[in-house]
Amino acid sequence: MSRLLSYPARQIREKYERMAPIYDRAEWLPGILGLRKLRRELFGLARGRTLEVAAGTGKNLSSYPADVDLTAIDLSPAMLAIAAQRHTSPPSPASFAIMDAEHLGFQDRTFDTVTSSLTLCTFPNPVRALDEMARVCRPEGSILLLEHGRSSREWLGRWQDRRSESHALHLACQWNRDPIDLVGQAGLSVRRIRRVFFGVFYIIEVVPARPRRLSSTPTTA
Ligand SMILES: C[S@@+](CC[C@H](N)C(=O)[O-])C[C@H]1O[C@@H](n2cnc3c(N)ncnc32)[C@H](O)[C@@H]1O
Repeated sequence: MSRLLSYPARQIREKYERMAPIYDRAEWLPGILGLRKLRRELFGLARGRTLEVAAGTGKNLSSYPADVDLTAIDLSPAMLAIAAQRHTSPPSPASFAIMDAEHLGFQDRTFDTVTSSLTLCTFPNPVRALDEMARVCRPEGSILLLEHGRSSREWLGRWQDRRSESHALHLACQWNRDPIDLVGQAGLSVRRIRRVFFGVFYIIEVVPARPRRLSSTPTTA
């Protein structure tokens, strides 16, 4: 079992502020291997009012159907500024906001679809972020996650374990977390899981589990 590494949000923001100008270049290899295709495939399923959590430089923007009403949030202004520049209609309309995934500033049940990619590895408290995604998603909506984590091949998983600390130093990314376990810890129901690239990348479609705690639900005696 690997030690849970996590950086405070302030430190993560600083890392991504520095990383923003070169972030897109880091995806050339996974892009060629099929990550771009996975983005198109999964986020093409978004419907209606859609929230992308920790959207980074907006690499998923062109994957959304033209008629989604998109809101994209991220902790790093520099990352999100690139996303806003990259945005062309469609999808339209879109809005961008600096926000912490673990404290989303939206009412319960605001969105039809909540999406996120390559982020559960980075959030200081990924279960809390998932809980927030479920809170702001309508019960009949869906949460679409494209994640990476510990490989299903033991030899590769052990290699990731050995290098997890040095890897995390660069991107605050803990690449040997288990996204499926995190979804389970958040009490969410999984509709579909697909793993590719030696089980390193995960497509996870999540049904926001109900009944859930709703912050606006009045308590009765
Ligand atoms: C590895 S990048 C992924 C960016 C993008 N989703 C993608 O697929 O390319 C991680 C992103 O998570 C953002 N992030 C990290 N912690 C966050 C938090 N607590 N709230 C919001 N965004 C956060 C970072 O600023 C960064 O843009």
